[in-house]
Amino acid sequence: MRKLMILSLIFVVVFSAACSPQETPVVEPTTKPVEPTKAVVEEPVVEEPVVEEPGVDVSICGTSEEVTITYVGDPVGTAVDAENNTIARFKEVCPNITVNRLDSDAIVQNLLASYLTSFEAQSSDLDVIRVDVIWPGLLAEHLLDLNDYTPKEQLDSYIPSLLVNNTVDGRLVALPIRLGFGMLYYRTDLVEKYGFSGPPATWDELEEMAATIQAGERAEGNPEFWGYVWQGNSYEGLTCNALEWTASNGAGMIISPEGEIQVNNPASISAIERAAGWVGTISPPGITTYIEDDSRAVWIAGNAAFLRMWPGAYGSSQTSEAIAGNFEVAPLPAGDSGQGASTLGGWEIGVSKYSAHPEAATAFAVFMTGKDNAKYYAIDSTFPPAILELYSDPDILAAVPYSDPDIVKITTPRPSTFTAQKYNEVSTLYFTAVHSVLTGAQDATTAMELLELDLEVLLGK
Ligand code: GLC
Repeated sequence: MRKLMILSLIFVVVFSAACSPQETPVVEPTTKPVEPTKAVVEEPVVEEPVVEEPGVDVSICGTSEEVTITYVGDPVGTAVDAENNTIARFKEVCPNITVNRLDSDAIVQNLLASYLTSFEAQSSDLDVIRVDVIWPGLLAEHLLDLNDYTPKEQLDSYIPSLLVNNTVDGRLVALPIRLGFGMLYYRTDLVEKYGFSGPPATWDELEEMAATIQAGERAEGNPEFWGYVWQGNSYEGLTCNALEWTASNGAGMIISPEGEIQVNNPASISAIERAAGWVGTISPPGITTYIEDDSRAVWIAGNAAFLRMWPGAYGSSQTSEAIAGNFEVAPLPAGDSGQGASTLGGWEIGVSKYSAHPEAATAFAVFMTGKDNAKYYAIDSTFPPAILELYSDPDILAAVPYSDPDIVKITTPRPSTFTAQKYNEVSTLYFTAVHSVLTGAQDATTAMELLELDLEVLLGK
């Protein structure tokens, strides 16, 4: 019953997240007929050199030639192993294809900029790339239509809303590999030690608990201990954090699905002021430079009571000697809206239109996101999978136990569908304004007033 609830919630939340009046209608994907498996038949009469690699199934590998392709890897936490294992599994199936995994920039705006530089030069340097859930619209023109390469059965296996999200003008520009959503990680041992009954339900409770635990742990001799760590650098991750503070306070969604700008209102201003008050009190002064890995490092070293993070930190927390067995995850706290908000993240796999090896590159993308590999990717990375059926697999439920209705139901999308091509500029204006409040350069009232004006100009309001 619980599994069914989880499934339907993921479906409903992600589906509604991806839909907007601007959406391209869902197009029933057409699939290139998968060629029948060609058995390698030994022809004793022919004396020509054998070019086909024995055992290469061209229908799966796309080519029997020896080729090397590049894959732009995820440098953050558990994803590295999940990707290396994926590449090793692919090598077993397609020994003729070598996947060269490049480590990429962990700041997604920098990654996007590097993609655009390469694509604008029509460079064949990148074959298979990771596409943030907010980017299909931005990158569509540079990516192949994967409807043409993916078996229909596989297309049908993905969470439908992700296909909608990744379909631009009828072209499926990326295949989904994982979901992400913001969660509150908390130390069960410390919550109990300081007499609290469970994780905080509200931001007020979080502040009180974080301050109490921090004071207690410091008094016991750990000057490095902090109450709450999160992502406060001036980048996309701050947009994700700030959306959670403001949406949970009833401020709206930065830009509503109908296009209303929702930043300059009392709920937004007070939520951002509250977060600015954490800097140097319950959070390190340097939090305004933290990206995911910085906050995760403090947490897995055992130096924080609470962490705001994506699901992948679950795996690295389980293998941390300092905290294994002493942590849990919960929905992010509620503000004045009465419930928390959790920014919807996630990644997709796309293939560059400028690839010199499109058959091998698409073969890798299809393999990576197909059910068999996706299951192990989810277990290795502890990111929830993009394939619906895997949510009833006991191995997956054990690996990602936090695919919990209470967490999934508060998922909130960024306004990338509505703003489409302009999303990166919207987000950059937003996180720059929020960051200026966190560093004390501006007060929240002024920052949100100016941000509203900038967004009006950008969106032509
Ligand atoms: C995670 C999310 C992604 C988001 C990024 C921000 O990788 O999955 O959607 O943009 O964090 O840092």
